[in-house]
Amino acid sequence: MATQSPPASLEAIRWRRPRLSILDQLLLPHTSTYVDIRSSADGHRAIATMQTRGAPAIAIVAALSLAAELLDPESPLPDKEGDRARVIEARLDYLATSRPTAVNLFDAVRKLKAVVQGAPQELCADVVAAYVAAAEAMLKDDVADNRAIGRLGAQFIASRHGASGLGVLTHCNTGALATAGHGTALGIVRTLHEENGLDHVYFTETRPYNQGARLTAYELLAERIPATLVCDSAVSALLRAQPGIKAVVVGADRVARNGDTANKIGTYQLAIAARFHGRDFIVAAPTTSIDNSLQDGTEIAIEERAQDEVLVTHGVAVDKLMNNSEVERAAVRVAPLGAQAWNPSFDVTPAHLITAIVTERGVYVRADGAAEFDLTGPPPSS
Ligand code: MRU
Repeated sequence: MATQSPPASLEAIRWRRPRLSILDQLLLPHTSTYVDIRSSADGHRAIATMQTRGAPAIAIVAALSLAAELLDPESPLPDKEGDRARVIEARLDYLATSRPTAVNLFDAVRKLKAVVQGAPQELCADVVAAYVAAAEAMLKDDVADNRAIGRLGAQFIASRHGASGLGVLTHCNTGALATAGHGTALGIVRTLHEENGLDHVYFTETRPYNQGARLTAYELLAERIPATLVCDSAVSALLRAQPGIKAVVVGADRVARNGDTANKIGTYQLAIAARFHGRDFIVAAPTTSIDNSLQDGTEIAIEERAQDEVLVTHGVAVDKLMNNSEVERAAVRVAPLGAQAWNPSFDVTPAHLITAIVTERGVYVRADGAAEFDLTGPPPSS
């Protein structure tokens, strides 16, 4: 059942034990609707259809969707000792098939399996309690991690370009809607704004799903952060026209141990444009986005989504919006019938184009003259 919420809610994941609901990001920015997630099947569907999205949010919704299921008396679990753990592990394996690129999901699944396997299984209730506590901790920890990323990223930029009058360009949506709160790259923007260091943030529309035009715009307007939307194709012209933009800040879905970074499609071309124009290119991500099992970015699985995301666009009728009438999201075909599209959801930015990788534990930079990062140890600065 869907319920209406006040406009401009930035709480993407609403956990009120034992109930989980998510802000439906297919309907934003014109309609703020929370959708109940009662089971791992609901969680899987919400992630696959992108009702919820963003690497940290995907992992947390997956974890909590199963928590909601485990706490629901109408979804009985086996009584037998040990069987519960096996059911939980199978559900986690299923949730891991919802989207392929963001490693946070697989990291969460691995950690939750370890919790379940380590729980004292002679008391079945303890397996569920241990699971729910671990899933709840992921929600809480993510906000703290993002605040740390915001602080460290803002400090890093200020140390290179001064602590005021900063212009920043960002891509996709990496804010409260993509996380448990505050955000990663957008968390840096938020922190700069809170500390009066930000002059202006530019953000891309991020075709084809329009995470920028719909979701980042929604967040920046809600917090009255001075901001301007640009087409994805305008970024080189923008960097030439606006020397005040000192840094491009983006999030990550998966970072290989050499620093190659998978993020929303269009990130790679932004990094090339930033290098050409002599601007910093900063990746902001929690350490849960680092996949140390991968030597480099060639090993990252890149999700390809339906052609229709490119061929068809969604929006609401302007006259209805202006008249405050009830707005309905409608699909509008842009390309002619018969046209084909290629729709990779992510691309990989090579490490040598990245100035720094900001995590909650500190900032990684490349050693002098090195083309790659070493993310296998702790960051040199924190
Ligand atoms: O397809 P999406 O919207 O899930 O992609 C999101 C991104 O690429 C984000 O930049 C990334 O997940 C980081 S969110 C803090």
